[in-house]
Parts: sequence; C-alpha cells; structure tokens
Amino acid sequence: MSDPWQECMDFCVEVTKRAGQMIRDALEKDITIMEKSSPVDLVTETDQKVEQLIISSIREKYPTHSFIGEESVAAGAPSILTDAPTWIIDPVDGTTNFVHRFPFVAVSIGFTVQKVIEFGIVYSCVEDKMYTARKGKGAFCNGVPIKVSGQQDITKSMVLTEMNFKKDVERFNTMLANVKTILSIPVHGVRSPGSAALNMCLVACGSADAYYHMGIHCWDMAGGAAVVTEAGGVIMDISGGPFDLMSRRLIIASSRAIADRLVKEIREFPVGRDDQ
Ligand code: IPD
Repeated sequence: MSDPWQECMDFCVEVTKRAGQMIRDALEKDITIMEKSSPVDLVTETDQKVEQLIISSIREKYPTHSFIGEESVAAGAPSILTDAPTWIIDPVDGTTNFVHRFPFVAVSIGFTVQKVIEFGIVYSCVEDKMYTARKGKGAFCNGVPIKVSGQQDITKSMVLTEMNFKKDVERFNTMLANVKTILSIPVHGVRSPGSAALNMCLVACGSADAYYHMGIHCWDMAGGAAVVTEAGGVIMDISGGPFDLMSRRLIIASSRAIADRLVKEIREFPVGRDDQ
C-alpha cells in the first residue's frame, strides 16, 4: 500500500527549504525585535513572515488540514491538538539566536494524524542541515541516516538543556539547581545551544546524549521528536511517564539508562505561562 503521508512530507521539505532561505536572507538585513510575554521572549517580523509563507503554501495544497503555528497562537489562535491531519510549525526555532546571529536557527515542522507524529522536518538553515524522519522509516540528515550515540553511562555524557530567565524565583532556582545537580553527577558537560528542535537533532545524530526541558511548546518539539525517535532515541515525560506533545516538557536520551537517571535527578516545577 502506498504511504498516504509521503507526499505531504516531500512537500514539507520543499516549503521548509524556502522558509530557510527566507531566514538566511533576513540574517543579512537589520532585524527588528519585538517582545512577547517577557523581555526575553522575542519575536521578529521574520518569525511572522516565515510562518505565513509556510501556512499559506501548505493550506493552498491541503485546504482541509489543521495548523498549530507558534506565531498564530501568539496572535490568538488556539493550540489544541485534534485527530485531524495537523501541521505543527515553529517558523524560527531559536529566535533569540536569530536576533544575535548565533548560528543555531531552525525551521521545525511536525505532522500528526490522530495525534500521532507521522513525520518531522527540522532545517538548521545556517548550517544547511536538513533533518528528516518518517514514522518507521528512520532519521536522516541531508539524506544520510543518523542514529543516537547509544551511550549508557551518564558520567560519559553530554547533556543539553535550556537556561533562560524566569520571572518566578522558585522556578528560576529549580532550573539552576537542576543544572548544578547534573553537572555534579558528574557528566562531561552541559550545553545550551538555544534551539529546542536542534537540541533534539544533536541527540539524534550522536553529538549529545540527552536533552531535558520544562516550558517548551508543541511547536518546539514536534519535528525533533520524530527525528530523535527514528534515530533510536528514548523520549519521555520529565516524570518518566509517556511523552505528551502538549505537556510542555520532555526528556530525550541516547539510552533508557540515561533517561531514567535524569528522571531521578531532575526536580520538576509546574510550567507557567511565561516559561519558554
Ligand atoms: C525557543 C527555543 C529555545 C527553547 C524555548 C523555545 P523559539 O523557541 O527552542 O531553545 O528553550 O523553549 O521557545 O521561541 O525561538 O521558537
């Protein structure tokens, strides 16, 4: 039987390439920065224009499909995942990196049907690395198969997370305490590259061994979740339960052993509206 979603995936790659070119062009020009929920939650005209390009192109071809896009949600659209074929879009993942021209910026798109991720595309547009994954068919970077490191020993691992300002002092302290706890295991290092989607792809291709985060959104996770799963990674909730795309938290790792150890070490905090 032919794959009903392969055509959508091929189209997605094409649209993502165009979106990536738009971002590269924008990096050559002045960048006007606006604030969303806080002084560290940034958006630019590029985020909005790239999302418009992606949604209008896909909607023209697939008019019955649903969308959850970061900037559409910021403008008031609902962020509700239904059983309908749904495109979950982060037009510029790593907006803070983008405004600083720090070169880890991605277009991230995940596609779900009946709430299951069918494929994910993450395009690291400055590096020109196109990560693709179709459910059950493996993960690739620029067409070459990728897989996680398989590292089992957390003391030999590189762990990624986000370190950002939080208005709520308790959540801020917990986030910092978690980094201290993990560094003290000890691990080889903790890094914060600044793009959730690319963090997931870095684990997927074996450049890092784990990533955890509380406060991200479905558009940050959907594309990368497909890539890391298809690359043989483990993905779960921060509590060790099943991964939930709408929960705003996750742990991913190169092995179950590392994921389980992170579950034990990380202190949870309730995700707030202004968390990212
Ligand atoms: C952000 C980045 C960042 C993550 C935040 C996201 P954005 O995405 O992925 O690494 O820590 O949670 O919001 O806002 O640049 O698309």
